Amino acid sequence: MWSRRSVFILAAIGSAVGLGNIWRFPYVAYANGGGAFIIPYLIALLTAGIPLLFLDYAIGHKFRGSPPLAFKRLRKRTEAIGWWQVGICFVISVYYAVIIAWALRYTFFSLTRAWGDDAEGFFVKDFLKQSDANFGFDYVGNVAWPLILVWVGVIAILAFGVQKGIGAISRIFVPVLILLFLAVVVRALFLPGAAAGLDAFFTPDWSALTNTSVWIAAYGQIFFSLSVAFGIMVTYSSYLKRKTNLTGSGLVVGFSNSAFEILAGIGVFAALGFMAFQAGEPVSEVVDGGIGLAFIAFPTIISQMPGGALFGFLFFGSLVFAGFTSLISISQVVIAAVEDKLSLGTVRSTLLVGGASAIVSVALFPTTTGLNLLDVVDHFVNSFGIVTVALVAIVTVSWLLRSLPALQLHLNSVSSFKLGRLWQVCVGLLTPIVLGYMMISEFVDVIRNGYGGLPTVLVVSAGWAVQVAIIVFAILLSLTPWRHYGDRVPEYTDPVPAGAVK
Ligand code: ALA
Repeated sequence: MWSRRSVFILAAIGSAVGLGNIWRFPYVAYANGGGAFIIPYLIALLTAGIPLLFLDYAIGHKFRGSPPLAFKRLRKRTEAIGWWQVGICFVISVYYAVIIAWALRYTFFSLTRAWGDDAEGFFVKDFLKQSDANFGFDYVGNVAWPLILVWVGVIAILAFGVQKGIGAISRIFVPVLILLFLAVVVRALFLPGAAAGLDAFFTPDWSALTNTSVWIAAYGQIFFSLSVAFGIMVTYSSYLKRKTNLTGSGLVVGFSNSAFEILAGIGVFAALGFMAFQAGEPVSEVVDGGIGLAFIAFPTIISQMPGGALFGFLFFGSLVFAGFTSLISISQVVIAAVEDKLSLGTVRSTLLVGGASAIVSVALFPTTTGLNLLDVVDHFVNSFGIVTVALVAIVTVSWLLRSLPALQLHLNSVSSFKLGRLWQVCVGLLTPIVLGYMMISEFVDVIRNGYGGLPTVLVVSAGWAVQVAIIVFAILLSLTPWRHYGDRVPEYTDPVPAGAVK
């Protein structure tokens, strides 16, 4: 268990603040109305992000288990939903580790600016050795080594358990990350052109607010960024003591994550402003998102600026730190589930699950199709996997089992910030409507247009088939027997409210 609430809060912030904050948020915000995006973003945070964080905390804390055990304790037949979340975490972990491995290599590449004058060519051809043919599974050794190192780190830390492993590492990594990243942002703000970058980032395009896709982008960003609705927070809160202020912790975690996200936006756009200034182009010409932002735009900036080596070292170092504390939280979901189901003990389940994840990750991604493979898996797991499992879980808990009043009672019985009926409206009504809309519109788009111009065989196998396989596995696993079911710890029971009929 966590020794103190502050350790849990640090670990939860470490999980939330990840690659999604540093490279995804700035671009999503820019592409969806710039300064005006802050409005849908804050509404999504308040109506879905934080309410769902409370829901995850309530399920994990009350039922005290990894998602399959917690859902089984909620109602026997819902165990498969827990396994579905576990499957999603497994898939995310195997590619998320790859991006951290790239960032690790780039931390050191920065010192010599190894990419020379052509950051894009270096990344795609020299470093990742991607084949033009879109399909090729030749092995790329220089990506495999850092990836193995990342997995060894994950397994070593998680084998120490929740408090001594995750807790200890979060207490060091989260403050270090904040310092590293603050240094990056301050340096970026002093670059020529920074003001134009910030102008581009913050200038509101109010007409964006009437566009539904902007609202969808805001909700999508919040789910991934806060690590809600795919099992992580259920798992982390299952290690909390009975008397823990759950909603108070959720507010701290939710607002810290968003604060970091906005800080990242400021740092990234100040740097992009400099890049535009150097190129003599408007900022809109140089903005890029995701992989392109971190591994192509930033190296270009690092080469052009004075003191670039140190700046690059700090920037990529921040990505490694931010990604690593998120990766351990994602892997812990799978490990805890196997530990609960098989009563294996921490070390053995960590070796088993961590080893299997490492093998899949190291076998598939350092290949000449690795980049496209990662792109497809990432897109499908985010746009369909997380969205669908969140929708199914929420509809089951709110409508089929009608458990929200009991969960609200649980949260209020231990927390300082008390929830009212509005929480149930946000979780049970508003969020499913948004999630349902997101799922359908994304589905229609991919069926009509394919994905990213990539070959259908890749989209079908790495996209659709993986999502279907997760669901099939989840159902099968939920049918297998538990070894010593409930061994770990009993669930917490709540006080009966005054006046209730016994
Ligand atoms: N919440 C994590 C991120 O933002 C997964 O990357």
